[in-house]
Amino acid sequence: MLFRNVERVWIAQAPAKVNLGLRVLSRRPDGYHELDTVIARISLCDTLIVEVDSSPQLFLHVRRSYPHALRSEQIPETSENLVLRAAELLRRRSGQLFGARMTLIKRIPSAAGLGGGSSDAATTLATLNRAWGLNYPRDELLRLAAELGSDVPFFLANTVFARCTGRGELVQPLSTRIRLWLVVAKLSGGLSTAAVYRGCQPTGGRASLEPMLLALQRGDVPAVARLLRNDLQNSAEKLSDDILSLKAEFSQLSVWGHQLTGSGSAYFGICRSQRQAWECSVKLKSRGLSAVWSVSTCA
Ligand code: C5P
Repeated sequence: MLFRNVERVWIAQAPAKVNLGLRVLSRRPDGYHELDTVIARISLCDTLIVEVDSSPQLFLHVRRSYPHALRSEQIPETSENLVLRAAELLRRRSGQLFGARMTLIKRIPSAAGLGGGSSDAATTLATLNRAWGLNYPRDELLRLAAELGSDVPFFLANTVFARCTGRGELVQPLSTRIRLWLVVAKLSGGLSTAAVYRGCQPTGGRASLEPMLLALQRGDVPAVARLLRNDLQNSAEKLSDDILSLKAEFSQLSVWGHQLTGSGSAYFGICRSQRQAWECSVKLKSRGLSAVWSVSTCA
């Protein structure tokens, strides 16, 4: 996580993610699903600005920086927002007496499967840990992260690629030097994560993501693209025609592979180069989509 500390003001970037492989293995008694997933951080980021406040209050102000198609997205400034939930949890557990004034600049759309809220929560934990001088050990922060959401620990781990298991909270960083260029798009509607999981059919035994892991290790981008897989995509397609529309749009691009990320509703393609990612984004925009980003996995 990248921090800048200017005159007691802390600035941090909260990156989005895409799921390159997502296997839903089984339904668990606690209502969650057992997963095996390969996740990559991407360069689309929210920004969190934190100022320590000597009053014990927590304030959140959200500024939206969205493309036109997402202008109706509402982001709460109440404790529904994972930034405030993370700050409250850390303050309660640490007995911290100071507060914080936080500004969140939102670029990552919500309910998109891009992990925006989870990344904001992880960034809040890490930034306040420093700003409040708590020096909480990483393991302790990871425990708090897992309480906040299944994807939050991934964003705390200092890694671009990871394999995540359990309900997604068990993070195994992957070492690879590969860099992927991606085009990401979203239509205006979001999808409820819980609803998409409810509609999915677990695959049973531990279907293997090993070939994807090997392709990442080898730096073999075409193979990574060929091996894309998301067990949530069928369920998401049944819940929203938007996913089928995006799939049809991406099929017209000469990308190496494409799929839904997480529980959707954002969709991405793996491109041959930075230039092709940019050209694909221009093409999608010319076809009427405005929420389109050309990005890379974080360098
Ligand atoms: O953990 P998180 O709060 O992000 O999960 C949101 C919802 O997604 C859960 O309440 C659950 O319905 C579903 N989910 C699941 N299995 C997972 C992760 C999430 O069923 N591994």
